[in-house]
Amino acid sequence: MKYGEPPEPGELHPIERVSRDELMALQLERLQWTLHHAYENVPLYRRKFDEHGVHPNDCKELDDLAGFPFTTKQDLRDSYPFGMFAVPRERIARVHASSGTTGKPTVVGYTARDLRTWAGVMARSIRASGGRPGDLVHVAYGYGLFTGGLGAHYGAERLGCTVVPVSGGMTQRQVRLIADFRPDVIMVTPSYMLALLDEFESQGLDPRASSLRVGIFGAEPWTEEMRAEIEDRFDLHAVDIYGLSEVMGPGVANECVETKDGLHVWEDHFYPETVDPFTGAPAPEQGELVFTTLTKEAMPVIRYRTRDLTTLLPGTARPAFRRMAKVTGRTDDMIILRGVNVFPTQIEELVLRTPGLSPHFQLHLTRPGRLDVMTVKVECRPGFTGRDEAAAALRGAVKDGVGVSVEVEVVDPETLERSVGKLRRVIDKRDN
Ligand code: DLL
Repeated sequence: MKYGEPPEPGELHPIERVSRDELMALQLERLQWTLHHAYENVPLYRRKFDEHGVHPNDCKELDDLAGFPFTTKQDLRDSYPFGMFAVPRERIARVHASSGTTGKPTVVGYTARDLRTWAGVMARSIRASGGRPGDLVHVAYGYGLFTGGLGAHYGAERLGCTVVPVSGGMTQRQVRLIADFRPDVIMVTPSYMLALLDEFESQGLDPRASSLRVGIFGAEPWTEEMRAEIEDRFDLHAVDIYGLSEVMGPGVANECVETKDGLHVWEDHFYPETVDPFTGAPAPEQGELVFTTLTKEAMPVIRYRTRDLTTLLPGTARPAFRRMAKVTGRTDDMIILRGVNVFPTQIEELVLRTPGLSPHFQLHLTRPGRLDVMTVKVECRPGFTGRDEAAAALRGAVKDGVGVSVEVEVVDPETLERSVGKLRRVIDKRDN
């Protein structure tokens, strides 16, 4: 690997070196503050706590949080636009919002201090990924109401990097800028990184010869197989970053480049739990990730149901901070195919393990008769000739690995739609 061994952790923020006990003491203090702040300043929390028969004073230790009610996306929608804010609107320094493809957008707000906190956790995330002060950082996450671009931007500036705020889209120009400016770090969704890869090749440039040393990829689920593909094709370290607007934006959790073993949750600001998605009971194994913010002023969230499925694990590279395993998918992205639960990430793993198949695939759902059919449309790699064999191999692998029969259609390279941000993997043509 061109970059050789991952860099030494170097200068960590002092908080990254505390003991678990010290961290938990800090969490409890901050949690108690947050519960009071939410109860006293957001009518929705006061009503929910009262209905649930709990009061902020009931939280004497961290585990007591489990007695408080959940917050859902619906609560945010019902409070549209500014009803979740715990400070007067004049104190809000910035708003972001989700795209709102499924109804009203959800709006989130930040005080000036929240923005500093966010830049701090993002700087920490970029450093954990292997970025260093003085690096040139190409930011290809979208700028605007989406939190990706501006979140990455302020974090990279805080770390002391040179930021190139390219945003998403205009793929040819992105590649030109990478060739000319020679960035060390790229921040982009993994699916858009694949579109950049195609463009490198169509411009006759060798992606492995690019200056990029580290890629910080998130905003959508991606697998270890995709990591291997991107690392190999670009000769860089591919690191996972997680976050969501309701909790902050990117930088809630990040992998450490020296271990690449799941994402350390920055638990001094965000308190994670995992619960059974159906019953809401604590789930020690894989479950739905739930977050409580510990320092947010403008919009504290208490036990926010993320719908993301993962497992919480003990810390490694940052021993005090628990890790979350790579996200398997969202509860609402789960496909139930003739009674079998299927996540697009399971198909991604199998596609990438099948010789001759590229990482570009879509899942088409149809209902030709009474039963649902899933067709995996997947591009073969350029020059590959054994399409029938590859299709049969993938069908067999899905049957064995996931336990369900699917159709596989191997199509020509560069025929499926490319993403410029978050990829739409599933195309559902069943009319319900
Ligand atoms: O996607 C924030 C972000 C920007 C994270 C850039 C990382 C990089 P939202 O648009 O609110 O915020 O979408 C949040 O995206 O609940 C997950 O379902 C998904 N997601 C984010 N990061 C990852 C990841 C941003 N690393 C939703 N792996 C979350 C899997 C992710 N899914």
